[in-house]
Amino acid sequence: MMEGAGALAGRRIVVGVSGSIAAYKAVTLVRLLSERGAVVDVAMTAAATRFVGPLTFASLTHRPVLDNVFELDADQQIAHIELAEAADAIVLAPATANLLGQLAAGLVSDAVTAIACASRAPVIVAPAMDAGMWTNPATQRNVATLRDFGYLIVEPEVGTLASGLTGVGRLAEPPTILDAVERLFARAGDLEGLHVVVSAGGTREPLDPVRFIGNRSSGKMGAAIAEAARDRGASVTLIAGAMSVTPPRGVTVVDATTAAAMRESVLRAAPQADILVMAAAIADFAPARASQHKIKRSGANLQIELVPNPDIVAEVGEMPDDVRPFLIGFAAESDDLETNAAAKLRDKGLDLIVGNVVGGPFDAIGSDENKVTVFAAEGALSDWPMLPKRQVAERLWDLIADRYRHARGMAEGAETGRGRRRS
Ligand code: CTP
Repeated sequence: MMEGAGALAGRRIVVGVSGSIAAYKAVTLVRLLSERGAVVDVAMTAAATRFVGPLTFASLTHRPVLDNVFELDADQQIAHIELAEAADAIVLAPATANLLGQLAAGLVSDAVTAIACASRAPVIVAPAMDAGMWTNPATQRNVATLRDFGYLIVEPEVGTLASGLTGVGRLAEPPTILDAVERLFARAGDLEGLHVVVSAGGTREPLDPVRFIGNRSSGKMGAAIAEAARDRGASVTLIAGAMSVTPPRGVTVVDATTAAAMRESVLRAAPQADILVMAAAIADFAPARASQHKIKRSGANLQIELVPNPDIVAEVGEMPDDVRPFLIGFAAESDDLETNAAAKLRDKGLDLIVGNVVGGPFDAIGSDENKVTVFAAEGALSDWPMLPKRQVAERLWDLIADRYRHARGMAEGAETGRGRRRS
């Protein structure tokens, strides 16, 4: 896996610093980026300059700091526009609640917002604020809007805040932000030309016109996988069961809320796919009969007969080689993750399986974070900590892209999958 070795050399990166006590961590971030050969320009809001002096950044980068677009001489007037155009990436760290609000609303009031607004470069946002501000619905809505714009959010961490209280809102550590920047460059476009199908969410098996048997799946993991594939250049189809999150933009969404609908959609999409990721939580049983009429209260016990549903991913696993996509399943386990995941990998004919723990203190369902282990026939391939689901998705794609290319006998970077495989 390419962990960004040399990925930053010569890249133009603008670091936008806003007014948070965490601005001091931006100094470390700028140093780390510069050490890796990036050409770093720093833009600061007026509030940021009260926490860290512009001279600190100028000394590290050997370049002028943009801290006031309105007081520049004629030559510099357009410096922020030139920078916005020249930037390969923009990193906003720390990003205050105010900055998130301005970005979400498209407002421009200083060098940082001017560059972010004018640029078409990818934007990484690392928020930092008090826990109450972070969980405030307005902030969360602004973050969701920025995600929709395609901004990459490096989630704030749990820890001691400036207030002395403990909570979520602490700026991610500089190496974590650096990691996000390196990954951005290491992967850009590595799934270009590939058609990726992702199933996500839970299925609902109808009992009557108003009731169903369902599960707690939120679809967050599958949505993050689809979104990450989109950002890496794949054309993506998301086969969506019941989801509590909005599917990412720019992917084709096929609604499939029952196991039967999911089966039909997956079997139709699979032969056209280069890679199929089955993240959906599909019901193993369905009521033998769904009543046409609402089942009435009768006072007596109600027996529901459940019949097994077909194993969809196993059916794809049995497809002939010329139509079978590279196949990744999930294993949701409350016990014996490794043994059960290995059995599912084999029995369902998968190339890789992503094991995650459900139930108990590390329950992945509905959470914004997940701790997964990826298994191939030879055993565990990963040892990752608990991470935000988007970061899990990026790591999964690093691994899947690599394995896919090997399986198809392709050199790194030459990924015209379907043509090669089927010619
Ligand atoms: N899956 C499927 N069709 C089903 C059930 C599951 O394609 N009817 C897929 C899931 O999308 C997932 C993998 O199979 O990729 C494993 O799902 P999981 O629920 O962990 O396992 P099951 O096969 O249902 O086994 P069990 O519930 O007994 O653990």
